[in-house]
Amino acid sequence: MSSDVIELFDRLAGSYDEVLPFFREFGRQTADRLPLPAPGARLLDVGAGRGAVAHAARDRGYTVTATDAAPGMVDRLAATLDAHLMDAADLRFPDGTFDVVTAGLVIHILDDPASAVREARRVLKPGGLFAFTVPGPNPDGFAMTDRANELFAEFSAYLPPAGSMGVAFDESATLAAAGFTGVAETDLRVELTVPDAETLWRWFQTHGSRKFLDDLPAERRAEFRTRLLDDLNGRDRIVLRRAAWLFTGLA
Ligand SMILES: C[S@@+](CC[C@H](N)C(=O)[O-])C[C@H]1O[C@@H](n2cnc3c(N)ncnc32)[C@H](O)[C@@H]1O
Repeated sequence: MSSDVIELFDRLAGSYDEVLPFFREFGRQTADRLPLPAPGARLLDVGAGRGAVAHAARDRGYTVTATDAAPGMVDRLAATLDAHLMDAADLRFPDGTFDVVTAGLVIHILDDPASAVREARRVLKPGGLFAFTVPGPNPDGFAMTDRANELFAEFSAYLPPAGSMGVAFDESATLAAAGFTGVAETDLRVELTVPDAETLWRWFQTHGSRKFLDDLPAERRAEFRTRLLDDLNGRDRIVLRRAAWLFTGLA
């Protein structure tokens, strides 16, 4: 487990998804795509954060258990859900416990995504569904309107060697290698109107991109902020448009 990533999310737990309802919206869309549950169907949400997927799945009728590796997230989850501190690659549940396992925007930040995918399969009942999301790319006809990703690409040259999060992996191949069948993918889209440029900058401080910004040398971070704000401040309306990809497979 990458302790600096977990420490980051632990520190951000109070502000995560509070500036803009971004993760909540992806979580709702993820839950909407799950089958309607049979009575008593059990769902495990891995890396649940503030409960974007978990709360929406509970509202859809699932009996939800939420896990996360950051104590600050688990403390907050425990106010409304059955919540446990656990690493995604070491779930302390017996084999075949759950009907559905979800993981919203978490598998891609792990050091070893394949272990977490195998662990999801282990805790699923035979035939159970694993559904996880990863960010972008934006599909045709749904272009980003802000230039933040161009800035992230450009400024990645200034990161220290270990200054990133997660590893690139092939989602479908990883699901198949873990023994999942019927692997499928679909895109989810979020479009939010942002009140002003400062709000967007603040939003970038409250989730995984915070690590990127913190890892930049101070003068580069200041330059990033200036260039982001200069671009946005000239606009009548700031729109945050992002896609995520939902991957599913059957155990
Ligand atoms: C980008 S957030 C996503 C949270 C939530 N699923 C959502 O959709 O808003 C990533 C979450 O993964 C958690 N996390 C990071 N590493 C983890 C690990 N090894 N095992 C379990 N959770 C982890 C973080 O604490 C954080 O809450």
